[in-house]
Parts: sequence; structure tokens; C-alpha cells
Amino acid sequence: MPLIDTAQMLRAERAAGRAVGAFEPYNVEQIVAVIEAAEAERAPVIVQLWAEVIETYGFPALCCVVRELAGRSSALISLHLDHSDDDALIDACLENGFSSVMFDGSRLPYEENLARSRDVVRRARKVGASVEAELGIVGNIAEYATEEEAHAAIQSLLTTPEQAAEFVRETGIDILAPAVGSIHGCSLPFARLDAPRIAAIAEATGVPLALHGGSGVGEGQIRAAIAAGIAKINVDTEVRQASIATLKQAVAAIGSGPQEPPDYARVPRAVRVTTREAVAARIRAMR
Ligand code: 13P
Repeated sequence: MPLIDTAQMLRAERAAGRAVGAFEPYNVEQIVAVIEAAEAERAPVIVQLWAEVIETYGFPALCCVVRELAGRSSALISLHLDHSDDDALIDACLENGFSSVMFDGSRLPYEENLARSRDVVRRARKVGASVEAELGIVGNIAEYATEEEAHAAIQSLLTTPEQAAEFVRETGIDILAPAVGSIHGCSLPFARLDAPRIAAIAEATGVPLALHGGSGVGEGQIRAAIAAGIAKINVDTEVRQASIATLKQAVAAIGSGPQEPPDYARVPRAVRVTTREAVAARIRAMR
């Protein structure tokens, strides 16, 4: 099927009481794996890319692969730019047919985040793409010395329903990423999600909510978050860790003897399988 609009996909899944997983492939074997996992689980999926991945491969290669695989897949797929405050990159993604982009102005002063998010919405509307923006700060575990320090610090960075309502109304964004007790970069259980806050933000804004830092969130909390209004769940670190572990093993297993041609092909093959399994397991937890 052709790429589908991200916000539209999220609204439909939310109405059915489900969330959509958003995963970050770093290479072609992982793009293949994410789409295979969605197909196997009969679920929609968001292929979201970091700026670094776009820099590595360029738009022609990435867009061709994602569009072609989506076109052949029975799963609904959208293509999304994750976390960017780079207007040139955002515009390039819009020109290259991304279904949606995330403008991350969460560390900017509120008024600047609002004005720039609104401007991204204006540009995205011209090409029919949807926009996600962050309010509050989700943060990264690497910024803190201990988990307890992180928990204490993020309390003051959480999103309030009142400000979220104003932000969504004033910007026109389609998807809001609020800070609700999770953090980026944590593969061990970390999150203490504030479900009443999620429900209040969902009610006050009326738009699908994106949960960032999905790797540190246990299955019970995932289900409570979906019931409260989370519609998009970003998962990167845990899939990345599993894939890198496999990558190292596969590289270590390559023979290096003079008579032994190095079997490079086994490396992406192994990564594809691990990525597919890790993504499929996460998708199952959201449905
Ligand atoms: P994790 O790496 O913590 O899973 O977070 C992913 C994410 O939110 C990307 O935007």
C-alpha cells in the first residue's frame, strides 16, 4: 500500500484502543525487518528516521526502499522524521514525501517552540504531511548520574494539560509528544508513567499522543498508557541493543583465515532476524 498519513493512522488505531509502534531503523536490513514485523503481526507501523540515518544513506535510497516495501506490504506503513529542529532537514523530508515530521523545540523557550512548531505545520500542510511536536522535556537517561536523580529531575519537566491544550490549539500540530514520566535511552525498566496526566492531556488536546522513551516502559504501563490516550510509542534503545549484540556476534563468527572468504552476508542477515523479533515483540505489547 502507498505510505499512509501518520496522524490518520494514529487516530484510527486509537479509536480501536490500540497504539502504533514507531521504530528507528539504522540501515536497510532494519527497514526490511521493521516492515516484516508489522506484516507478521498484522499491525501498522511507523518507520522513523534520525537525521544521522538520512545523512548516511540520502533520501533517494531511503525513500525508494521504504516506499517500495510499503507498496508491496499488506501492513500500513508511514515514514516519519524523528526529533529535529533543523528547518532545512524538515523541509527536505517534506519534499521527499515523508508522511510526517517531528519538530522538537522542547528545549527552546515556550513561545519559540510554539512559533516554530506552528511554522512547521504551515509548511507541512502544503504537502499534506502531519506534524508531531514535543512539549515538556522527555530528556535522556545519559544526562543523569542515577535513575533516582533522573526521576526527581523529570518531575519538573512534565507537560501540563493546560499548556498542552494551548500549545495544540495555537500550533495546529497533529500529534503531541508530552513528557509523562518516561525517558530516552533506558532499556531497563525505568518509567513511572503518570496515567492520569496522560488522560488529562489527551482530553484537553484531542490529538493522538506520542510516548517517547518506550524502551524503559514495562508492558503493564504500556497498556495503561494506551488506555489513557497514548497512540504512538517510540522504541529505539532496546531494539538497537539487541541488534548490536547480534551484529557483534555475527562479526566475531566471520572467518578470517587466508583461504576463507569473509562471509559478510551473514551479518545483515543476522541483524535482520534479531530486529524483526525485537520489533514484533514490542508491537504485540501494544495491541
Ligand atoms: P528509546 O530509545 O528510549 O526507546 O526512545 C525512543 C524514542 O523516543 C525516539 O524518539
